[in-house]
Amino acid sequence: MKKRLEFENICKTYSLGEVLIPALRDVNLSIAEGEFVAISGPSGSGKTTLLNLIGLIDKPTSGTIRFEENIISYNGSSKLHRLRQARIGFIFQSFNLIPVLNAFENVEYPLLLTTVSAQQRKKRVEEMLDEVGLLSLRAHKPRELSGGQRQRVAIARALVHQPKIVLADEPSANLDTQTAQDILQLMEKLNREENVSFIFSTHDPQIVKIAKRVVNIRDGRISN
Ligand SMILES: Nc1ncnc2c1ncn2[C@@H]1O[C@H](COP(=O)(O)OP(=O)(O)O)[C@@H](O)[C@H]1O
Ligand SMILES: [Mg+2]
Repeated sequence: MKKRLEFENICKTYSLGEVLIPALRDVNLSIAEGEFVAISGPSGSGKTTLLNLIGLIDKPTSGTIRFEENIISYNGSSKLHRLRQARIGFIFQSFNLIPVLNAFENVEYPLLLTTVSAQQRKKRVEEMLDEVGLLSLRAHKPRELSGGQRQRVAIARALVHQPKIVLADEPSANLDTQTAQDILQLMEKLNREENVSFIFSTHDPQIVKIAKRVVNIRDGRISN
């Protein structure tokens, strides 16, 4: 299978004044096309830091990241910005939906930054809303939706521009157990149908079970 992403000896150290906090220590990791991976570890183990580096939002202190075989350079930031915009989708823990926009408009939003025509945009947004079972609630604002429904909107929005990798930081954290499992099953279905790599973090053993591959992280170290 084609490699999407490779981490080679990645370290990330935060500094708080005089204090250095090693959040990732010598991480080696390879993610292939279409994988469904859980990053599992307790709070403070480095999951968010790892996802931010995978999503090219943050820069490692040392080591090399390759995206589709190309070494990422953090100097030319506009190139990196374009790569991130075209290839990566994010599902944030708090969903980050825009309150004044309805479900349709929230999902449409990433496509407004592309050259996709209005007609194509409408078609793709409706297709994604249908995939996540929310077509009939397209006109609802986030506050008129349940937590699980908001998470579905966030998933549709992360996938609408057909990224190669979708990242979800603790996507089940604010949901009840049944809704969380439904959401993960939906992610797994989209992973198969859209051939997109899904990488999500969790500290919930029930959620870890749904993943096809588990990457365990403890104190900034990956153990498998
Ligand atoms: N911006 C930051 N500045 C300083 N320390 C940070 C920052 N972000 C995270 N950390 C520290 O890095 C470690 C890993 O954090 P994080 O990646 O958020 O873990 P997790 O997502 O698994 O809870 C923790 O010790 C945390 O306190
Ligand atoms: Mg976190």
